[in-house]
Amino acid sequence: MKKDDLMEKIVSLAKRRGFVYPSSEIYGGFASIYDYGPYGAELSKNIKDFWWKEMVQLREDIVGLDSAIFMNPRVWEASGHVAGFSDPLTECKNCHARFRMDHLLEIIKVQADEKMSEEEINKLFKENIEKIACPACGKNNFTEGRKFNLLIKSNLGNITDNPSEPPAYLRGETCQGIYVNFKNVLDSVRVKIPFGIAQIGKAFRNEITARQFIFRTREFEQMEMQYFLAPKDEMKEYEKLKEARWKYYLKLGLSEKNLKWHKHEKLVFYAKAAYDIEYKFPFGFSELEGIHARGDYDLSQHAKFSGKDLTYTDPKTGKKFIPHIIESSVGVGRTFLAVLTESYIEEKNDGRERVIMKFPKNLAPIKIAVFPLLRNKPELVKKAHEIFDNLKEDFMCEFDDNDNIGKRYRRQDEIGTPYCITVDFNTLEDGTVTVRDRDTMDQKRLDIAKLKRFFVYNL
Ligand code: GAP
Repeated sequence: MKKDDLMEKIVSLAKRRGFVYPSSEIYGGFASIYDYGPYGAELSKNIKDFWWKEMVQLREDIVGLDSAIFMNPRVWEASGHVAGFSDPLTECKNCHARFRMDHLLEIIKVQADEKMSEEEINKLFKENIEKIACPACGKNNFTEGRKFNLLIKSNLGNITDNPSEPPAYLRGETCQGIYVNFKNVLDSVRVKIPFGIAQIGKAFRNEITARQFIFRTREFEQMEMQYFLAPKDEMKEYEKLKEARWKYYLKLGLSEKNLKWHKHEKLVFYAKAAYDIEYKFPFGFSELEGIHARGDYDLSQHAKFSGKDLTYTDPKTGKKFIPHIIESSVGVGRTFLAVLTESYIEEKNDGRERVIMKFPKNLAPIKIAVFPLLRNKPELVKKAHEIFDNLKEDFMCEFDDNDNIGKRYRRQDEIGTPYCITVDFNTLEDGTVTVRDRDTMDQKRLDIAKLKRFFVYNL
């Protein structure tokens, strides 16, 4: 399948089957913002639950947090976002499409440094201008580049619109909430270094050229874990974190051939190392997660700007130090798109085509669909409802009596439901139902009394 075809098919299925809708679509949408429909909300929740289990529940050394979206504006000065969280923007003078200059340079295989000043990136852009064409219209006529800050401002608390008051930003990343709570967690929970704090939450960025569906959006969710450690352990723990994160994606169900490492060659001044795990999205390999060794930058900055002591005292030696931090940071939306890409399968059987979302069972939005063979036979409908009511306590189930059985199977395949149960006339006589397997399409008859045990074992 061609790359564009796959992306188009995924976007179309996501809309048609209730996974992802463009935001406020009845008003013409809202650029680079998406809503998650009924099945999307389930899939997204399952992804977050999986991450939380791996990152918090299964780790003795990591605790969870849920910090607020709004923070004191000084946080964003300390973090460097007010001064330096910007992308270089240019506009095509012919078609007025806007692009990030570093993305245009990337197309011709020239790497720009994230920290380049406006002047530096404009110089690099001009040096290569002959080779750069507008991806929208193909012309080669761009405006002078400008750095564009990604933080989104709000007027929270500033009811008089006083321009001299620093704005309350919508957080640009969730980890700042972790850094500013380091001391609170340390003082209130029995943790000792090395330990991590993990959280899932919304982040907001004024992305200029948000593109590729839910890959890059202006409102998105991050799953971030910050691990606090002694300076001497930083690189050893960093290697362990890299390994753990690679294994996590395999366990999530992504195939190894679709994953690769990308090493950042040009690091910000405080960073010790930075790697991305890239996934092979329909548009090519792109960043899924960032894993960074950040030194003591974050806590030093917050100590300096807040005036609070953020040192840690080693309980054995009594030595004080500012903990170093290694982080793992991934978007829920990007994971969602990777899971959709990995799971989308077209199959031909006996000349008939079907589309299946072969989600790993733990991620599937609906685990079991229950059908009465015919909707106009009350005794079948009643029995199917009884089974549905019995299973729904333990599994996310769906009752469906629309259309014919063939269409119901097709719909469940497209939303990735691992099992479908059909109640037919035999059920009324011998207490058995048909259980159909999504992947093999095998159907077997099972006793109603044994259904729960079967699903506990197989889901
Ligand atoms: N705290 C580090 C941090 O935020 P980042 O590389 O800017 O680093 C980390 O973002 C991850 O968050 C990315 O790898 C990606 O998965 C996700 N992400 C970042 N910007 C995004 C956007 N505009 N839309 C969707 N996901 C985004």
